[in-house]
Amino acid sequence: TVGPDAGETIVDWYETAARDLPWRRPGVDAWAVLVSEVMLQQTPVARVEPVWREWMARWPTPGALATVPPADVIRAWGKLGYPRRALRLREAAVAVVERHGGVVPADVSALEALPGVGTYTARAVACFGYGQPQPVVDTNVRRVVARLVHGRAEAGNARAADLADIAALTPPDARRATRFSVAAMELGALVCVAGTPRCGACPVRDRCAWRLAGCPPHDGPPRRV
Ligand code: ADE
Repeated sequence: TVGPDAGETIVDWYETAARDLPWRRPGVDAWAVLVSEVMLQQTPVARVEPVWREWMARWPTPGALATVPPADVIRAWGKLGYPRRALRLREAAVAVVERHGGVVPADVSALEALPGVGTYTARAVACFGYGQPQPVVDTNVRRVVARLVHGRAEAGNARAADLADIAALTPPDARRATRFSVAAMELGALVCVAGTPRCGACPVRDRCAWRLAGCPPHDGPPRRV
């Protein structure tokens, strides 16, 4: 079965293959991570990058954003789309100032209580912003698990069992576990993509249940080779 050794291999792959994205650099704080995750919820990385840079230069803390009129915030959001996210982010900044003295909380349940912050975003901030070994499960990660562990072409709906599947793959060392969360996302974003994956570039192709089963199509029997 596929276990933590696969997770270790995915972490090793990440160290060499990951994109150098500004919100992943050392020293980036939890506010910067929160802004990036809200922007990335419905907008591709390439479009987010320049807006995130401008945003962080202008409003480097929750306190800075909290006092800005909503109209200015919407304007700065520019063409990212779904501008309600900008208003929610501003409301989250206000809540951080009022409830947490201007410091983004590190606790997942306190994060989830902020406007516009769901389970995914809360765990992402705790993990990428505060270095906690939290499982961060997005659609990319669920697709990796569906293939690698369950031998299915695509992930179904989110399930409670997703967390147990992730836990079984996670390296035991806390720093490696933290790294694994972003590494699994990156594998799903770059290699184990929806549709036709780039298995030739995959670090765990030799133990992928989906490959071992003959790469069956979504909801279909195994393909004859
Ligand atoms: N790194 C951390 N979170 C990310 C996301 N949502 N999309 C792309 N890269 C990320």
